[in-house]
Amino acid sequence: MPALTTRAPRKQPPARPVQAKVVVPHRSPKRYYGHGVPGVDPASLSGKLIVVEGADGSGRSTQIARLVQWLEAGGHATVQVGLKRSMLVAEELEQAQQGNILSRITLSLFYATDFADQLENVILPALKAGFMVLADRYIYTLMVRDMVRGMDEEWLQNLYGLALVPDAVFYLNVAPEQLIQRNFAKNLALDYWESGMDLGLSRDMFDSFLKYQSLVEQQFKRIQSTYGFTIVDGHRSVEEISAELQKQIASVLEK
Ligand SMILES: Nc1ncnc2c1ncn2[C@@H]1O[C@H](COP(=O)(O)OP(=O)(O)O)[C@@H](O)[C@H]1O
Ligand SMILES: [Mg+2]
Repeated sequence: MPALTTRAPRKQPPARPVQAKVVVPHRSPKRYYGHGVPGVDPASLSGKLIVVEGADGSGRSTQIARLVQWLEAGGHATVQVGLKRSMLVAEELEQAQQGNILSRITLSLFYATDFADQLENVILPALKAGFMVLADRYIYTLMVRDMVRGMDEEWLQNLYGLALVPDAVFYLNVAPEQLIQRNFAKNLALDYWESGMDLGLSRDMFDSFLKYQSLVEQQFKRIQSTYGFTIVDGHRSVEEISAELQKQIASVLEK
């Protein structure tokens, strides 16, 4: 079995200890979205895959750090994955993005490779071994970003047909204006790609960020029912959001 290693998640805030509640997970039927990964039977996967989606600054890292504390206190081993964390291409992808000259298809396939590597070498082996896998973003962000850039939905569905259907997907919904405040407070800057600067929506980065994030949000809401996300109001306090996630995950663990 390949080593359960992944690149360290970046910029994680410290998690606060939370009340433990031991829940014994049951094995629930798993399936792939499409063709899946050859040789890995979803029925052999006993762990749970929990996905937290949301824009930059929506609070994903904050919530995942708290979930890890809570799950581990409850006796569950956890593994974390996220975009640009594969051992295979994460560094190369980061480097390529510095140049801002990637075509949308090359960028899309780069991210798909990063995802496929983590799926095969981290997510599936961890689930097989009964781990709780927490994904800081999954194929939805990748698909939505590409759809905003006008790529064909069917082509994307086929590309990500290798993905496993998660046990739960939470989308932290935060208004773009609020995201700007949080990203500025945290990083003193906005990210080129997260502002959609490659799309030429506006030469002003703030304006572009607002427009781009609204487009992303629209796409997320459009595909929500197809992929069964739970939309979580991310404007509330860290504690309130955390309590909601824990409640919902507790019911997933009992399934
Ligand atoms: N519910 C919240 N309310 C206010 N600020 C928050 C909340 N959740 C996270 N933050 C803050 O917003 C910033 C971005 O949070 P982070 O968890 O890093 O988001 P992401 O990983 O989605 O980019 C951090 O400075 C964090 O402390
Ligand atoms: Mg983060």
